[in-house]
Amino acid sequence: MSQRTLVLLKPDATRRGLIGEIISRIERKANWTVAAMELRTLDTATLEKHYGEHVGKPFYGPLMEFMASGPVVALIVEGESVIEGVRALAGKTDPLAAGPGTIRGDYATITRENLIHASDSEESAAREISIFFPGFSLV
Ligand code: PPS
Repeated sequence: MSQRTLVLLKPDATRRGLIGEIISRIERKANWTVAAMELRTLDTATLEKHYGEHVGKPFYGPLMEFMASGPVVALIVEGESVIEGVRALAGKTDPLAAGPGTIRGDYATITRENLIHASDSEESAAREISIFFPGFSLV
């Protein structure tokens, strides 16, 4: 089933020069394409909308601070089963638990600096796409 998902390449990806590598891994997957892309530094209002569900969790403060620490690349990726697929390609949240061949497993070591965010469901994808690319719909 063709879908759209919202992907953020986090500030560590930008700082470490890994944007091209990560996008390349996404693009090489058959039947996936980049439908929209923007480099921007996120303001507090945008971050509060995006991470609202995590308010009150112990990592909320560090996550917000980290995500505002430099530019991120926001993308819409579309294609076959892309929501679950990009999450699998990203690997587990804790990079030390992420398998080899995943983006986090191959390039990251700590959870705060885990390089990539990807929507975790159709509902999240619709909500997150509307935050970052208001002109785009889910399909
Ligand atoms: S939960 O409670 O299971 O929904 O949380 P989880 O999916 O594991 O993580 C939600 C997002 O918080 C980030 N995270 C952290 N950031 C900074 N520091 C710490 N310690 C930390 N722990 C979790 C995690 O990477 C998720 O971010 P996104 O952007 O959604 O990947």
